[in-house]
Amino acid sequence: MKFDTPAGPNPIDKGRVIGIAHDRIDGPAKVTGTAAYAYERHDAAPNAAYGWIVGSAIAKGRIAAMDLTAAEASPGVLGIVTHANAGKLSKGNMNTAHLLGGPQIEHYEQALALVVADTFENARAAAALVRIDYAPEDGKFDLAAERLNGVIPPQGFGGPADTKAGDFDGAFAKAAVKVEQTYTTPDQSHAMMEPHASIAAWNGDKLTLWTSNQMIAWSVGDMAKTLGIPKENIRFVSPYIGGGFGSKLFLRADALLAALGARQVGRPVKVAIARPQIPNNTTHRPATIQRIRIGADKDGVIDAIAHEVWSGDLPGGGAETAAQQTRLLYRGENRMTAHRLVTLNLPEGNAMRAPGEAVGLLALEVAMDELAEACGVDPVELRIRNDVQFDPEAGPQRPFSSRKLVECLRAGADRFGWQRRNPKPGQVRDGRWLVGMGMASAFRNNLTEKSGARIGVDGSGKVIVETDMTDIGTGSYTIIAQTAAEMLGVDLDQVTVRLGDSRFPVSAGSGGQWGANSSTAGVYAAAMALRAKLAEKAGYAAEQAQFEDGLVRMGNQSQTLASLAGAQGLWAEDSMEYGDLDKKYAQATFGAHFCEVGVDMDTAEVRVRRMGGAFASGRILNPKSARSQVIGAMTMGVGAALMEALDVDTRFGFFVNHDMAEYQVPVHADIPHQDVLFVDELDDKSSPMKAKGVGELGICGAGAAVANAIYNATGIRLRDYPLTIDKLL
Ligand code: MOS
Repeated sequence: MKFDTPAGPNPIDKGRVIGIAHDRIDGPAKVTGTAAYAYERHDAAPNAAYGWIVGSAIAKGRIAAMDLTAAEASPGVLGIVTHANAGKLSKGNMNTAHLLGGPQIEHYEQALALVVADTFENARAAAALVRIDYAPEDGKFDLAAERLNGVIPPQGFGGPADTKAGDFDGAFAKAAVKVEQTYTTPDQSHAMMEPHASIAAWNGDKLTLWTSNQMIAWSVGDMAKTLGIPKENIRFVSPYIGGGFGSKLFLRADALLAALGARQVGRPVKVAIARPQIPNNTTHRPATIQRIRIGADKDGVIDAIAHEVWSGDLPGGGAETAAQQTRLLYRGENRMTAHRLVTLNLPEGNAMRAPGEAVGLLALEVAMDELAEACGVDPVELRIRNDVQFDPEAGPQRPFSSRKLVECLRAGADRFGWQRRNPKPGQVRDGRWLVGMGMASAFRNNLTEKSGARIGVDGSGKVIVETDMTDIGTGSYTIIAQTAAEMLGVDLDQVTVRLGDSRFPVSAGSGGQWGANSSTAGVYAAAMALRAKLAEKAGYAAEQAQFEDGLVRMGNQSQTLASLAGAQGLWAEDSMEYGDLDKKYAQATFGAHFCEVGVDMDTAEVRVRRMGGAFASGRILNPKSARSQVIGAMTMGVGAALMEALDVDTRFGFFVNHDMAEYQVPVHADIPHQDVLFVDELDDKSSPMKAKGVGELGICGAGAAVANAIYNATGIRLRDYPLTIDKLL
């Protein structure tokens, strides 16, 4: 099915199951430990051996010599995979560095060997006996020092590197009020709960991988490319995932090395990337330096806005597209954005939840707070004055598909009690706490991706949906079941959803907050095809057939789904493909964050006291799982503001704090009540579901609201994240 004209009224609008808060279908299995994660699939491969990854102890250089003698003689060792015996390996399309290094070494902790043994303990003990002599080379590890060597990066999901409209320099020079500041954000780690893990088993030349992966089809393709085998010979199974945040978008070393290990030792092999290996072995969110200039009139109306971003990555990598939101969020006829990419020899940078906007708004929304103060305009009012209902780079001929930023700002401010804020910093006290309020706009783009599914009815009238879509803890199982139930007129408990298997039709996968809208649109397409088949079988005109209560009805006639499906069942498969509506209409999601903090007058400890937000994101398919996404993302925004940072050792080129003890993320005690309001919106240009993404929107701007609240509490303006105590004292 092709989606290239705005959606009219359709079966989803009934809103009998879609749009209703439901508990997650997979919830009980996940919280009782019966949803088996990849590493726990003892059922799938009961005789699996264990692999332990040996990572590089240098960031750049070569392996001078590798001595495996002691490791091979260690108890229980079955084999050791290295570049010397792994055969020819290519690099996946989505990988910047090789997943198995050697003799060249591209980054610290790059996998150089996999030791396979009969037990986990034996594998780990033998790995310590692998002796590697290195020939190190100098590398570049310091973004700030390399900044002037930045080049124009390749185009990725964020669009072109640079954009321009009007005459920024001329307009900025003439502006009555100017803000010109530089903000910095650190490298960050996804820190999802379940580490990367895979079990690989070969049957002849056929490979099965039980793994933890957000994007099944991308990763099957990259496994095929890396091993040089047909992708038809590879099956990925990833039904349950303990979080991803972007770290599992791609094929990683656990998957490749499990496959290589299993091939070498002739039995299934399981490999997890141990927690202390993850930050340096896998991907991270790159650090940024961001320069923002805004020129406005004395009432705060923006005439000129510029956002320049510097980030680093390994050779062949990409930029952190932190200026994305600045292209679309506020008015101003004179504007420019630019991204520059610096070559660094740190581990591989890549997407982490809301790549681009998550850190872009940490800068832009503090700059807006600085502009509000400079103009003496309330920060909410400033943003309302600068709202724009079309793509400000393209002009009025490219309107937004839907945009309710102003509604979010107003509704959110009301609910939070924003009018009680004292605009003068450092005035409000509660005992030893200085108290302040801050806010920020939320913005995240809305991407639509092709997505397929098949859907069937069995002889008992039960509905089954199969798609390679993944559920990374987001609620995919539930919203897909809701979609199928709505479309076929059955109750939710009559629907079984099967996900995360490359034998199922290729879906959009879980990435870039496109999963919910795109994957359910694919189920919608398949369900429309099944409805047509069922109607035809019933002898009813497809347009007149009604699907409700497990029946297909026309006028006063009806037949049950069960009888129409018959003993063999009835199936249909289709996908939703997109035309160019996203070129005619700018598509994005919007919201407003509000935060109240207390800052201890003596210790500068920061406590978040209240958070609230209002969000407009198209049809909210399941308000309960959507709220969970938003509050989780707001929590991650607090982490970005106050604590999260990978500390770079700029001498040796690695992230020093590479475990959960030293990479700080918020815990329950750090997070107060979070109030979430969804502003009603249907987006008829995003898909027949009229939904948009919401999984990443909640992180976008949340940290800036915290930063602005700290300023309001203390009068101290911090521009270097995370905003730790040492910077406040
Ligand atoms: Mo997202 S960073 O595309 O999982």
